[in-house]
Amino acid sequence: MISKMLQKARDFEKKYLPYTQSEQPKFHVTGGIGWINDPNGFAPYKGEYHLFFQYYPYATKWGPMHWGHVKTRDFIHWDRLPAALAPDAEYDRDGCFSGGAVELPDGRHLLMYTGVRCSRRRNGMIDDYQTQCIAIGDGVDYEKLAVNPVIDASQLPEGGSIHDFRDPKIWRDGDSFYAVIGNRCSDGSGTILLFRSEDAQHWDYVSTLSACHNQYGRMWECPDFFSLDGKDVLLVSPQEMTAIGLEFHPGNANVCLIGEFDRTANHLNRKNVQAVDYGLDFYAPQTLLTEDGRRVMIAWMQNWETSSCKPRELRFFGQMSLPRELSIRNGRLYQTPVRELEACRGVKIDYHNVLISGENSLRGISGRYLDMTVTVRPGNEKNMYKWFRLYVARDGEHFTFIRYKPETSTIKVDRTHSGFPHDIVNTREFPVRFSGGVIKLRIIMDRYSMELFVNDGEQAASFVLYTPIEASAVSFSSDGSVLIDVEKYDLETAQP
Ligand code: FRU
Repeated sequence: MISKMLQKARDFEKKYLPYTQSEQPKFHVTGGIGWINDPNGFAPYKGEYHLFFQYYPYATKWGPMHWGHVKTRDFIHWDRLPAALAPDAEYDRDGCFSGGAVELPDGRHLLMYTGVRCSRRRNGMIDDYQTQCIAIGDGVDYEKLAVNPVIDASQLPEGGSIHDFRDPKIWRDGDSFYAVIGNRCSDGSGTILLFRSEDAQHWDYVSTLSACHNQYGRMWECPDFFSLDGKDVLLVSPQEMTAIGLEFHPGNANVCLIGEFDRTANHLNRKNVQAVDYGLDFYAPQTLLTEDGRRVMIAWMQNWETSSCKPRELRFFGQMSLPRELSIRNGRLYQTPVRELEACRGVKIDYHNVLISGENSLRGISGRYLDMTVTVRPGNEKNMYKWFRLYVARDGEHFTFIRYKPETSTIKVDRTHSGFPHDIVNTREFPVRFSGGVIKLRIIMDRYSMELFVNDGEQAASFVLYTPIEASAVSFSSDGSVLIDVEKYDLETAQP
């Protein structure tokens, strides 16, 4: 049964979505209208990949959370489906928060999410009560279970907080269902709890898979846990992170814990901890396993801290990153844009061994819907260049640049002049592996974004840009002598 509240959201979508069609990015998911945040329920279902998201259709700011819904076959072209969930039950009346999805053995589609209910204390403070709930459907319409919530305070380990207990990521392994869920424990920081069930309705607490111990931020949101290339990987999104050198930045961050899952203790022994994405805009990543065995990740390409900053005329806010293929090499997470993007490449323009000193542009190298790789190396081995800059989305007034400095082996991205009508953090600097002044920069640009992939996916960095689409020049500059190769394609796909 579709509740009045869900029907209202669906009617609203029908009425207003057509008006924003021409303003959408070409190949990044948005809500179409209104606000979105975290990706939810990113999983295969009946031969397609479904993606839900935190959604408030009625304004470009966060509100009582619904789940919006799209699906795809190739991660590039997405079909929009009607809103899937509305906060229309007693136990989720203040929001259907983030969660996951799984295909049931009988072919039905199960969504597991956090139901939020707030109440005001005597002293005026508001408390959230967060429990885990389930809705089952056919890929379009979903029915919430009468037995909801399926996990509540009674199943929490000692010291676990019911006020910060959210974002179940569910998967099926053999005859069992598993879920990892973010929680806050008695030291005030995050833990990731592992639960198990035979039928996806009756759940048992198994273990604390990993704990923050106030080391990487405080509360850990939006966990995902999977095996990849012989390692076990936990993704979390910490709140209140303190910067650690140039590796982790303050505020809402994203962290990847790589190690080995101890099957006796049901605990992740972590060996390496790194940022997932080194840019300004990336949060709450979620992954799925494709039919051909690829682990593909998508994230909210946005930062909570700057989520009130947007052009006034925008009628939708928030977008997803490009889906990325993950791998582990030398104990580190690698990510590259899904290979399906290559089918969208138009004419190739390439240059080899171009000497850059001072400021240069190259005929045919421009555009705003771009897949461009620039390989940089020293022009003079004896006299290392000081820095190299790649400028994009440029006109007389606007530009964004990527700067690489061999001496410190750092990359800095600066979008100060990208068109934001607000005074916000616009630069991010991060360390890269030193390789004698040689570096490979692949950038993917869509209407409101630039995603950078360094050295064939060794690192990624994502940025929202609101530069007018006409600002399409690309240029290069350096202090010292640099040789570059450039391979550029315009991306020609269109949202259906
Ligand atoms: C992360 C988050 C989740 C929560 C959702 C609410 O961005 O705070 O923990 O489920 O957003 O919209």
